[in-house]
Amino acid sequence: MVDYSILQKKYLVGTYVNRGLTFIAGEGVHLKDATGAAYLDLMSNYGVAIFGHGHPAVVERLTDQVRTLTTLHGSFANDRRAEAARRLTVRCGGGLARVFFSNSGSEANEAALKFAVLATGRRRFVACRRGYHGKTLGALSATDGRKFREAFEPLIWDVVFVPYGDIGALEAAVDDATAGFIVEPILGEGGIIVPETGYLKLASEICRARGALLLVDEVQTGAGRTGPFLASESEGIAYDILTLGKGLAGGIPFGATLVSRDVGERIPRSSHTSTFGGNPLAAAGVLAALDLLDEPMADHVRKVGAYFMAGLEAIGSGEIAAVRGRGLMIGVEVRSRRDDILKKLQDEKILAIPAAENVVRFLPPYVIRESHIDDALAKLAGILSGLSAGSPPPCAAS
Ligand SMILES: Cc1ncc(COP(=O)(O)O)c(C=O)c1O
Repeated sequence: MVDYSILQKKYLVGTYVNRGLTFIAGEGVHLKDATGAAYLDLMSNYGVAIFGHGHPAVVERLTDQVRTLTTLHGSFANDRRAEAARRLTVRCGGGLARVFFSNSGSEANEAALKFAVLATGRRRFVACRRGYHGKTLGALSATDGRKFREAFEPLIWDVVFVPYGDIGALEAAVDDATAGFIVEPILGEGGIIVPETGYLKLASEICRARGALLLVDEVQTGAGRTGPFLASESEGIAYDILTLGKGLAGGIPFGATLVSRDVGERIPRSSHTSTFGGNPLAAAGVLAALDLLDEPMADHVRKVGAYFMAGLEAIGSGEIAAVRGRGLMIGVEVRSRRDDILKKLQDEKILAIPAAENVVRFLPPYVIRESHIDDALAKLAGILSGLSAGSPPPCAAS
């Protein structure tokens, strides 16, 4: 039998961590290897497989669209693209009036930064320490983290970094040369950090007062991940620019940059385009996703998310420093050996991902049920108690 992990290692540029597993199929909340062994997918490709794998409604819409039309340049109109743009704009609300479609979260943020420059005539940005907006050069300029940036510095434009959640620091950093402040409603890659209620509202007021734009990056938090369609919904802000991506096209590569009417009017023709952006296949995926992301689905995400977080807190292990998150965006900060924990979970056929230096992150599909969560909790509790039993008593450490 071909060993695809050797084949992949040989022929792919080695930019990814190698988790040592090969998956050839997915079904619901599980990924399957060549022997048919099923792994509980609590990462959903970093938050993409929001409806699990092979959701029948998504499969039907996508296969139908593959037969009808998959690719069409943005200089032509298309039924699916026009409808996806209209419905997405209406669904986001908050004064957002137009959308630019692309193919990834990074691309969505590239467009967001360029649109902010075009709309303000300024080139300076403010971003957050521990913030993550992607690894293409523009997005990377606003992404924090030495391991991502070091080899490529100096990066483009001028970005000032401020501590996440710190309104005083933001107030001091945004001035009349600032094009925009780019921010996640909850830090994802940075460790699942939930800011105080009102943070984005205050940030939006600070930006407005200085003629700068607020760029809300909902690539990870959006599309129902935290319960509501947008995590920032409850802040009641008038958006300037908002980005989305991940699973909003039912698993087809996707990014979206939504802009207010005012920003949209200041973006000239040809200033930014994409051959694949807004292709009818991805647009059909968006329509399928928007149909599925209804109120019962949002309630389910809230309910199982709260169940998962309560279960994690109830483990009561000394290895756990904190449990944070909202809906199905959950982080468990551990005191040590985070990567060991991830490996042991994987050995137990549970897939989770890292965040920051010490956080085990769970981004499960929204179709997850309490029974799956019980299974994961029992296995995690067993792993943590094994680690505690193996730890030297605190006073013997030195
Ligand atoms: C908040 C945020 N922005 C942007 C991105 C980049 O998205 P992509 O990997 O699709 O380019 C990510 C990816 O995890 C993200 O979490």
